[in-house]
Amino acid sequence: MSISGSCPYFSNQSIDEITNEIRSMLKSGKLTDGPYGQEFEKKFAHYNNTKYAIAVSSGSASLDVALRHYELRGREVIVPTNTFIATPNGVIFAGGKPVFADMNAQTLGIDIEDVKRKVNRNTAGVIVVHIGGLVCPQIHELKAFCRQRGLFLIEDCAHAHGAMMDGKKAGTFGDVGCFSFYPTKVMTACEGGMIITDDDEIAKETRITRTNGQNTDRYMVMLGHNWRMSELSAIVGKNQLEHLDEFLAKRNQVAGWYQEALLDVEGIELFHKPPNFRHSYYKYPIKLADTIDRIKLAGTLKEQYGIETGHVYYPPCHLHPYYKETYGTRAGDLPTAERVLPQVMCLPMHCGVTKENVKYIKNALITALTKLPLQSITVSSAL
Ligand SMILES: Cc1ncc(COP(=O)(O)O)c(C=O)c1O
Repeated sequence: MSISGSCPYFSNQSIDEITNEIRSMLKSGKLTDGPYGQEFEKKFAHYNNTKYAIAVSSGSASLDVALRHYELRGREVIVPTNTFIATPNGVIFAGGKPVFADMNAQTLGIDIEDVKRKVNRNTAGVIVVHIGGLVCPQIHELKAFCRQRGLFLIEDCAHAHGAMMDGKKAGTFGDVGCFSFYPTKVMTACEGGMIITDDDEIAKETRITRTNGQNTDRYMVMLGHNWRMSELSAIVGKNQLEHLDEFLAKRNQVAGWYQEALLDVEGIELFHKPPNFRHSYYKYPIKLADTIDRIKLAGTLKEQYGIETGHVYYPPCHLHPYYKETYGTRAGDLPTAERVLPQVMCLPMHCGVTKENVKYIKNALITALTKLPLQSITVSSAL
């Protein structure tokens, strides 16, 4: 048996539709900046109920482009340490300094109290990441705080396509929502990203920034880059978007199977979804007891049972060598993230996971856990 950790899903019908559109696109000679990209943008904005959607070449590009709207030179942006490195990197590329906030142990998302502590006169804004696909439950409080302090709020929704809180979609709470369509994500465009916003000025500017800073008259009015999405990616992304709600239903079903199967397994703690949320279940994280070595367990699951597991995110950003060397961040700076994240393991989560797979994973986990030697303290060598 071999169970991959993540895997994009295309039905045979989708493959046929995509292939036909690619054929038309190739014959048309319009390979970028064309009708498929425009249609994808329109449909993505409609899906999220926003005024604008602007397609770009990756999720990283969506952050780079959105952050360039703000004057960040000499200023700070607060970002969670528990995120993919593209989040803080975007701040640096836009001329600012990322300041890391600690994590909420229950949600794995940003700790709002730590954000409040880290705001100073130099702070320009905050980036929140809906980690694993759960909309940050304190998003209203965070937004109110940002408004009151005159800070921008960007939502990094790379995990949270279609995720909702009280019926409102991820990416529509703050000033800008940034999405990734990398192949592991809930929906893919092979590579690609999207920015959503209701702000006329941000929409106008991001369209210019993604095209090397040239306006529609081809005058360069600001510094930009080629951050455009190809028509090929737009065709794939548009098709995936049509099935996003089905993908989310399937992922929620898989999460339900895990929840039921793992509830009483010793050494494992589950994360719970509040009732008024639609989780996108980009990831299905579990928390291992402190006596379990996640890396050894992951190795056993892979080698002996063919089960691929992952993490969100280890090491946390502030402990990557680049950040330690550049900004002097150190072990001990963000204690909750450092204590909890070594123990967070993500189980296979994608549309191809079956109920039988979940049973197999449960049995493999129980057997592997009984055989593994216990560790006394969890301190990873990466620190
Ligand atoms: C939280 C987060 N932000 C940003 C990105 C960057 O997206 P991309 O890989 O499409 O550049 C990712 C992708 O892995 C991500 O998980």
